[in-house]
Amino acid sequence: MRNDSVTSDDCSPPRFFPCPPLVRFKIGHMSSQTVLITGASGGVGYELAKLFAKDRHDLVLVARSGDKLTQLANELSAHSVKIRTVALDLAAATAPKFLFDHLQSEGVAVDILVNNAGFGWYGEFAEMKEEDILGQIQLNISTLTQLTHLFLPAMISRRSGRIMNVASTAGFQPGPLMAVYYATKAYVISFSEAIANELRDSGVTVTCFCPGATETGFAKRAGNDKTRVFKRFGAMKAEKVALDGYRAVMEGRALAISGLHNWVGVEALRFGPRKFVTAVSRWVSEKAD
Ligand SMILES: NC(=O)c1ccc[n+]([C@@H]2O[C@H](COP(=O)([O-])OP(=O)(O)OC[C@H]3O[C@@H](n4cnc5c(N)ncnc54)[C@H](OP(=O)(O)O)[C@@H]3O)[C@@H](O)[C@H]2O)c1
Repeated sequence: MRNDSVTSDDCSPPRFFPCPPLVRFKIGHMSSQTVLITGASGGVGYELAKLFAKDRHDLVLVARSGDKLTQLANELSAHSVKIRTVALDLAAATAPKFLFDHLQSEGVAVDILVNNAGFGWYGEFAEMKEEDILGQIQLNISTLTQLTHLFLPAMISRRSGRIMNVASTAGFQPGPLMAVYYATKAYVISFSEAIANELRDSGVTVTCFCPGATETGFAKRAGNDKTRVFKRFGAMKAEKVALDGYRAVMEGRALAISGLHNWVGVEALRFGPRKFVTAVSRWVSEKAD
């Protein structure tokens, strides 16, 4: 039996948005696993939320756009899972701790943490605004690291848990014209593989998931939607990418690259001289004619 009562709490996040900051759906069926997905209002995170809900996982969905999260929660309510939405700017330095404390106070134990929220900024580094540089580092690196550090101890003590860190094929080489973004994703790969090794006997798995170019709102926000990588080589569908990621995390794979062509591309990088690899990376990031 479903109980579709919807309540809304003012949870005073570090930055407010013009929507209910938290909407809670109380539904009869409760699965044993709760999945926290950052960046669930669009793109890959949105598709991942659908896959987890289909497999009857309870969800905590986080992004700035509370209205989109509420819409997604309504769509997913047919799966009879418990869904919380939290409208929060995860690029605020206090946001990870705020989110953790909020879920603790609600008695929510996170079994699967999906660090998916991220953004890139296109352009020459010297001309980039400081806030855009630091914003990428904050969201893509600091928030991901802090959320992992906050939720990991409980997983270790339960000897069970999964962490999925969404990096990118961008993380395997330097990225002229998106220097900071590529470097943040290199951090995510290195960090995730290292802690996956540290946690190998703990019952907790860490999966670093690397999509290549994907059809989402990412490229438009970054300003690289007219580049060769998107225009000439084409982007994968978000649904397909999310499915690859979902499988990888459920199999507990340490590193997974979405799409055979992306995997081949990443493997090929090993054999090229670094200067050449960087030059090719710049070429694909230049605007298509
Ligand atoms: N698309 C690609 O080509 C591509 C390729 C490789 C890797 N990736 C990675 O895949 C991940 C998902 O990206 P996507 O392609 O799905 O991009 P997207 O469509 O732009 O979605 C990004 C998600 O992150 C959320 N987000 C952005 N800034 C946020 C903030 N400050 N606080 C909270 N949430 C925030 C967005 O929601 P709000 O705007 O509502 O906050 C949205 O839900 C990212 O880590 C990205 O780097 C993407």
